[in-house]
Amino acid sequence: MGILKLFLTLSLLSIAPTGHADFACSSNTTNCEALIDYVTPNATTLSKLKTFFGVKSLRSILGVNNLPVSTSGSHAVSAQETVRIPFSCICTNGTGKSNKRPIYTVVSGDSLYYIANTVFAGLVTVADIGAANQIQNVSLIVPGQKLWIPLPCSCDKVNGQTVVHYGHVVASGSSVAQIAQEYGSTVQTLLTLNNMSDPSKLLAGQVFDVPLKACSSSVNSSSDDYPLLVGNGTYVVTANDCVLCNCSSTNNYTLDCQPSELKPSSSKWSTCPSTLCTGSSLNIGNSTSTNCNTTTCSYAGYTNQSILTALEVTTNQTCSASSPGSSPSNQASKIHLGGWISALILAFIHSFVLYFQHFW
Ligand SMILES: *[C@@H]1O[C@H](CO)[C@@H](O)[C@H](O)[C@H]1NC(C)=O
Ligand SMILES: *[C@@H]1O[C@H](CO)[C@@H](O)[C@H](O)[C@H]1NC(C)=O
Ligand SMILES: *[C@@H]1O[C@H](CO)[C@@H](O)[C@H](O)[C@H]1NC(C)=O
Ligand SMILES: *[C@@H]1O[C@H](CO)[C@@H](O)[C@H](O)[C@H]1NC(C)=O
Ligand SMILES: *[C@@H]1O[C@H](CO)[C@@H](O)[C@H](O)[C@H]1NC(C)=O
Ligand SMILES: *[C@@H]1O[C@H](CO)[C@@H](O)[C@H](O)[C@H]1NC(C)=O
Ligand SMILES: *[C@@H]1O[C@H](CO)[C@@H](O)[C@H](O)[C@H]1NC(C)=O
Ligand SMILES: *[C@@H]1O[C@H](CO)[C@@H](O)[C@H](O)[C@H]1NC(C)=O
Ligand SMILES: *[C@@H]1O[C@H](CO)[C@@H](O)[C@H](O)[C@H]1NC(C)=O
Ligand SMILES: *[C@@H]1O[C@H](CO)[C@@H](O)[C@H](O)[C@H]1NC(C)=O
Ligand SMILES: *[C@@H]1O[C@H](CO)[C@@H](O)[C@H](O)[C@H]1NC(C)=O
Ligand SMILES: *[C@@H]1O[C@H](CO)[C@@H](O)[C@H](O)[C@H]1NC(C)=O
Repeated sequence: MGILKLFLTLSLLSIAPTGHADFACSSNTTNCEALIDYVTPNATTLSKLKTFFGVKSLRSILGVNNLPVSTSGSHAVSAQETVRIPFSCICTNGTGKSNKRPIYTVVSGDSLYYIANTVFAGLVTVADIGAANQIQNVSLIVPGQKLWIPLPCSCDKVNGQTVVHYGHVVASGSSVAQIAQEYGSTVQTLLTLNNMSDPSKLLAGQVFDVPLKACSSSVNSSSDDYPLLVGNGTYVVTANDCVLCNCSSTNNYTLDCQPSELKPSSSKWSTCPSTLCTGSSLNIGNSTSTNCNTTTCSYAGYTNQSILTALEVTTNQTCSASSPGSSPSNQASKIHLGGWISALILAFIHSFVLYFQHFW
């Protein structure tokens, strides 16, 4: 079994160079967050991968791989293990590329073929590297030469929804239907996105564009981390490491932020600023319920001086309409504090229902 698996893995890798494709990227976003799978050619550590890909913080690697926040940089990664790498993406001429990163320095004995297919595990082609670095003759590279490796990515919305594009390296034996199921997408969406008409043409080792649903958040457009895009199944540590925000189905795809209890990463802050909602005793992530209303203190971003918060009130309409005879609707609607008019209308309807129940 083990030998068979190893054989499959090896034959899969040899197919990898043919699997690469550019991702369509027509949005005008100048910079967005994207992810790509890296199947490590050799045993390594998370810290080394961070340096290799020019990722700013170890925590962003931990977050996209959903590894515990306490994981150390010396965490071992074995050969052929898949690690998700976060990077920023720019759209040029209808395709997306990693924004001037990673930068690879040529060593003696390298060829662009080796760099593309072994060092970067088939995530790019020789032609991609050649074009990105304006190399006239791809056989001519010299030790010490710095090369920008243009990883494929996109910033486009998918079916009108904000997503994080994930360059998923297809595992041997996988199928489009399986990928759709695993990442909450549909076969049709994935085929369209990847410019494929026949799902049976999926190749092991192919870099497949998978849109991860991004959680909705209350982050203010004036915040330093706006728009905070966090894909389903991942988390980020933001506000100079003071706040951790998690995106999953458990919170109905609303970003779930909490004080991180880490030391601030910025020298501007000796300790983390208050994460209490203004005028309340609630901390970011805390909520209280009274009758049918739930008040939640949400993360709204950060500035040089402070962490921004927003108090949000959710009214459970199942609960507020649960008087006998009325049909329960299974919806909770979110209203900001200014939404008192709709609350008044609800109260008005409610009194009518009570009135008729009483007199008929
Ligand atoms: C991007 O911006 C250009 C000019 O500002 C505009 O013509 C084009 O339609 C925009 N594209 C998209 C996808 O919004
Ligand atoms: C975009 O495409 C045009 C025509 O194909 C080309 O002339 C131009 O150099 C490209 N720009 C970039 C930034 O790649
Ligand atoms: C993997 O390790 C071997 C042995 O140390 C080394 O020769 C080779 O260059 C490494 N491969 C990559 C892609 O780093
Ligand atoms: C590219 O460089 C190689 C090695 O110097 C040389 O043999 C080859 O003829 C060159 N190709 C072109 C098209 O110039
Ligand atoms: C979110 O991810 C979970 C598991 O990671 C998956 O089951 C679910 O279908 C995904 N949902 C969406 C909408 O992407
Ligand atoms: C989609 O695939 C077709 C056929 O393989 C190709 O001609 C076309 O250029 C591709 N379109 C994009 C946007 O990549
Ligand atoms: C964003 O923050 C600014 C400054 O704190 C504030 O004036 C503005 O009302 C906020 N916007 C929203 C949509 O909350
Ligand atoms: C994020 O949420 C998921 C699902 O609720 C949970 O399994 C995971 O431990 C959370 N991650 C962090 C860092 O809180
Ligand atoms: C989940 O969120 C969606 C969209 O924001 C909303 O329509 C739906 O009612 C929410 N479901 C629950 C159970 O809160
Ligand atoms: C409020 O948030 C803090 C920090 O996240 C947490 O330790 C505490 O348990 C929360 N309290 C309540 C009442 O939810
Ligand atoms: C809303 O209230 C109903 C009835 O009190 C309760 O069964 C339900 O769990 C509540 N839903 C939410 C999302 O809190
Ligand atoms: C629920 O919230 C609405 C809108 O903020 C408010 O008018 C109403 O009095 C609240 N009801 C309860 C029971 O707290």
